[in-house]
Amino acid sequence: MLIKKNSEVPWSEITPRWLYLNRRKFLTGVFGLTAGALAGQTLRELAWPTQKVQAAKLSVAAKSPFSTTEQVTPYDDVTHYNNFYEFGTGKEDPAMNATRFQTSPWSVKVSGLVDKPRTFSVEELQKLAPLEERIYRHRCVEAWSIVVPWIGYSFSALLKEVSPQPKAKFVAFESYYSPSQMPLGSRAGIELPYIEGLRLDEAMHPLTLLCFGMFGESLPNQDGAPVRMVIPWKYGFKSIKSLVKIKLVEKKPDTTWNLANPVEYGFYSNVNPGVDHPRWSQAKERRLGEFFRRNTLMFNGYDQVASLYTGMDLRKNF
Ligand code: MTE
Repeated sequence: MLIKKNSEVPWSEITPRWLYLNRRKFLTGVFGLTAGALAGQTLRELAWPTQKVQAAKLSVAAKSPFSTTEQVTPYDDVTHYNNFYEFGTGKEDPAMNATRFQTSPWSVKVSGLVDKPRTFSVEELQKLAPLEERIYRHRCVEAWSIVVPWIGYSFSALLKEVSPQPKAKFVAFESYYSPSQMPLGSRAGIELPYIEGLRLDEAMHPLTLLCFGMFGESLPNQDGAPVRMVIPWKYGFKSIKSLVKIKLVEKKPDTTWNLANPVEYGFYSNVNPGVDHPRWSQAKERRLGEFFRRNTLMFNGYDQVASLYTGMDLRKNF
C-alpha cells in the first residue's frame, strides 16, 4: 500500500521483486557461507533476520476444493515481503520488527447485531470448524501477487456461531494495536488500529477465510498472527491481520485505506483489471519470483463471487 506523499509509483516498480529477491539470494549464496560461517551466523541472518518465533504445527482436516493448483510462492518470499504498517512501511520491516510481538494469550471479541455476542480465545476459535488448507492467489493493490497455502475455515462458521440479527448488513474488523509493541505505528502515515469491513454477504461467502496459519504451521507474526482474514477476490489490503474485534453493524463501516485516501481506495476493492488505480494500471501483476508480468483476472480469478455484485457498477463501487 502506498501513501501518496511518499511515492508516486508502486514499490514493486521501484525495486522489481524478482530483482530484489535475486539480490538477496546472491548475497546469501556468495557471502553467507564464508563470512557467515566464521561468525557463526549467515550474512542473510544479519541482513534479514529470519523469524525465530516458535511456530506450532497445525493439523489440517482436509485440502480445500477452493484451492488453486498454481505453484505456491516460496515460504521465504511470502514471509519477507509484507505489508504490516504497525511494524514499519518497508516490505522487509515486518519480518524484522515483529519477532517479539506477543500473540498469546489472544482473544477476539465478536459483538454488535448478534444474538450471541462472545469473546473467543484463539484456541476456541480454532476448534469451531475443521481446519482446511486453502491455496489462494493473493493480489496486492501494488500489482504484485503470491500464491499461499493458508490454513483456516470459512468465516461463515464463526458468524453462524454468534447468530447475526436481521438488521446486520456489514461486518467491521479491527486489528490489535499497541504503541509500545508497535512503536513504528506512529510513523505509518495511516490511522491505527487498522480497520476493515465487508458486506455481510461477502463475509458469508465460503471463500472468505478466517485464517490461523500457512505452510502447515501457525501464522508467522509478520503475516498476521495469530488470526487474520483472507478474502482472495479482493486486493490484499482487505485481508486484515492480527484481528481482535469483529462487530456486526447496520451501516457500511469505515476502513483504514478508504479513510486515508478515498479517491484511491474504495470500500469494495475487488480485484478488477478494468479499473486502474489512479496512479498505475491494474491490468497486469508481477507474481513474486517471476520475470514476466501476467494478466490480472477479474475477481482475481474467483468468478464464483460475481453474483454478489449483480447490477452494481464496479467502476463506481471500486
Ligand atoms: N493488516 C494490518 N493490521 N496492518 C496492515 O498494514 N496491510 C494489508 C493487509 N492487512 C495490513 C493488514 C495489506 S496492504 C496487504 S497487501 C496484506 O495485509 C498483506 O498481507 P501479507 O503480508 O500476508 O502478504
